[in-house]
Amino acid sequence: MRIGPFALPNAFFVAPMAGVTDRPFRMLCRRLGAGHAVSEMVTSRRELWNSLKTSRRADHAGEPGPIAVQIAGVDATEMADASRYNIDRGAQIIDINMGCPAKKVCNRWAGSALMRDEPLAIAIIEAVVAACAPRGVPVTLKMRTGWSAQGEGGRNALKLARAAEAAGVAMVTVHGRTREMGYGGVAEHQTVAAIKAALAIPVVANGDIHSPARALEVLRATGADAVMIGRAAMGRPWIFREALHLQQHGHLPPPPATHEVLLWLTEHLHDHYVLYGEHTGVRSARKHIGWAVQALPGGEAFRRQMNAIDSCEAQLAAVTAFFDELGSHHALLPEGPHPQEGAETAAANEDSGDAPWLAAA
Ligand SMILES: Cc1cc2nc3c(=O)[nH]c(=O)nc-3n(C[C@H](O)[C@H](O)[C@H](O)COP(=O)(O)O)c2cc1C
Repeated sequence: MRIGPFALPNAFFVAPMAGVTDRPFRMLCRRLGAGHAVSEMVTSRRELWNSLKTSRRADHAGEPGPIAVQIAGVDATEMADASRYNIDRGAQIIDINMGCPAKKVCNRWAGSALMRDEPLAIAIIEAVVAACAPRGVPVTLKMRTGWSAQGEGGRNALKLARAAEAAGVAMVTVHGRTREMGYGGVAEHQTVAAIKAALAIPVVANGDIHSPARALEVLRATGADAVMIGRAAMGRPWIFREALHLQQHGHLPPPPATHEVLLWLTEHLHDHYVLYGEHTGVRSARKHIGWAVQALPGGEAFRRQMNAIDSCEAQLAAVTAFFDELGSHHALLPEGPHPQEGAETAAANEDSGDAPWLAAA
């Protein structure tokens, strides 16, 4: 499938996740098969652009294209300015966030809450497209099925998707939950199927795609052009190449070799330390290591012990020792079912307070 001028290699995308899908993790996912990767959201608030957090998020050094940057905000002019700012820093696709159940930004509701104010949502989409079109940069939109399952007009994703297509948006992604649901309940994909049937532009299904088999099932059931996988890629980024293998060969590949997983993880950690520096890097790497080991024998005890380590060198040595020991008993990674507890915690964090990822570091 294509996004504007960009042909994407496959239909398995990694979903943007604030605090997770930074540049090192996106690059790892792409290397392990993800057909597309969108950055964590960047605020449209100009006063925060020079913050450490935002400037890290706007740094795409070495990232393979097309570089897609997600922007979040509540003001059409600011969102247009944010698009131009990110294009100047390498963005080749601008993605509008209408999907997060975030709380307030500047005393106004952002993310999926924008879906409740259709005129504002459409004004933002039109302003962003107008800013991007002269630069030849396609605009994509990520949203939920609506702001509420109750009452008339609450599940308004189809209406907004049609308006987005008419405004010139090049691809729409739909997370199969309403804003009110947060991360509770179960994602439905009928709304995505209805949107796919109504639109000519590519449509992407997202929500609760926890396995390669589920990815193919959702593709088939919705007719969507692609699926976006979020929480199931945490600690398990090879899910993308597994889905691709299942699609191409009709069966899953064997689990990855334990020494291969160690190699991916240590390369990821090196990139992570370079981006964040030792103090922050060691701490923020703990969640990635925790996700990687949580379904493995001895993983929980290792995770607890690792939280006391505060140097890159010692963290890398501990991770290497853990996987070397595991590899001496298991040549292939002994995988249990994908644990969702960690993912739910992360989702709860995402939904907490005043959308911390929109604030300055
Ligand atoms: C920790 C976390 C952070 C997220 N951050 C973003 C974000 O920055 N932008 C966005 O559009 N969605 C964000 N999401 C939502 C995901 O992109 C995705 O829509 C959602 O997790 C459902 O997909 P999944 O069931 O495959 O995880 C986030 C989700 C999580 C769990």
